[in-house]
Amino acid sequence: MTDSLHHRSDAPILIVGGYGTVGTALTNLAAPEFPLLLAGRNPADGAELARTQGVSVRRWDLGDPTPFDATVRAVVSTVNDPHDRVLRACIEAAVPYIDVTRWTGRLARAATLAGHLAPTSPVYLSSGWMGGVTNLVAAALVHELGAADEITTSIRYDTNDKAGRDSVDFIDRLGQDYEVMLRGNPITVSPLTDTTWVEFPGSRTKVARIDTPEQLTFPLTLNVETATTRIGFSSNVSTNLLLAAKKAGLFRWGRGDRFTPLRRALLYSPGTGGSAQIRIDVSGPHGAASAVVVDPNGQAHLTAVGGYLALRRVLGTEMHPGIAFPESVPHPERIIGELEKHGVAVLRT
Ligand SMILES: NC(=O)c1ccc[n+]([C@@H]2O[C@H](COP(=O)([O-])OP(=O)(O)OC[C@H]3O[C@@H](n4cnc5c(N)ncnc54)[C@H](OP(=O)(O)O)[C@@H]3O)[C@@H](O)[C@H]2O)c1
Repeated sequence: MTDSLHHRSDAPILIVGGYGTVGTALTNLAAPEFPLLLAGRNPADGAELARTQGVSVRRWDLGDPTPFDATVRAVVSTVNDPHDRVLRACIEAAVPYIDVTRWTGRLARAATLAGHLAPTSPVYLSSGWMGGVTNLVAAALVHELGAADEITTSIRYDTNDKAGRDSVDFIDRLGQDYEVMLRGNPITVSPLTDTTWVEFPGSRTKVARIDTPEQLTFPLTLNVETATTRIGFSSNVSTNLLLAAKKAGLFRWGRGDRFTPLRRALLYSPGTGGSAQIRIDVSGPHGAASAVVVDPNGQAHLTAVGGYLALRRVLGTEMHPGIAFPESVPHPERIIGELEKHGVAVLRT
């Protein structure tokens, strides 16, 4: 037996992982505008959120073969879907699908599977940094300039920000080299190398390379020749510690399970809340444009805003069936205003 979704336009939006850190922020944004159904392994953990927001919660464990069955209007995946169960069920039932969780290899896999299954509903892959907010702002800047050759994204990760357990899988990517485009040619880069300093409002942050999905999609969707993303912590001491661990080879020799706690402790020590900041620099034949995105409500909220804007888009009339990325949606000139409505500042530098 396989999972079985059914599409109905007056049915709830299913948020898989909907009472997790990102899922809760998305639930708080989407209710009561949309009826919602939240899913996860331990629905009792979502009972309080479901009660306060007047939504439903059910069990769906993506690691348990027990099939899941529901009638829904659209699905947002806010938890890793290692076997593409959610994606496959959506495509088979012509249910609009949004994902905000996939790292680059998983995004490429989703696009391959979707291409193979030929969806008749939108498959919106919004996994660029912060649920595709980076992609949206980059698209707005490219639209403003008319054309772009290069997009550089710099992430300032607040060491005091909240993050959930499902985020830790991503950390293990730091041991794997990846491919990006540099002046129109593919090159292989190593994570946490190629450091530079970047100006954020009120701080300078040391950043280093990281593998994120927008570096795969920008050359394809926005026709840029170079796409680069780097990350650094609000604490330069923490960044230096991470870079030293990388230099010492921790992500190579420490790949095995024995070292998992050590690897994860380096990056996963969530706090009580912080500010999410991303700087995007775009340059092209007609000039350059930059913006710093600041969400005082932190990374989970900013990711949820990306998911919410994606949801509004897939439910609107302008989306076509098939694979879509945030940066190729219509009306990039409206993006900054939409973000600002959700308390996200887009500062021009
Ligand atoms: N695109 C981006 O920029 C971006 C930014 C932030 C986060 N993310 C991604 O978003 C995801 C969620 O992060 P988070 O911080 O919200 O994690 P989280 O707090 O751990 O939330 C995960 C949620 O999924 C549920 N869940 C976990 N395993 C499951 C399974 N096998 N089947 C069904 N449900 C399951 C959990 O509930 P139960 O424990 O009850 O199952 C929980 O509700 C991560 O993959 C993270 O990498 C992406």
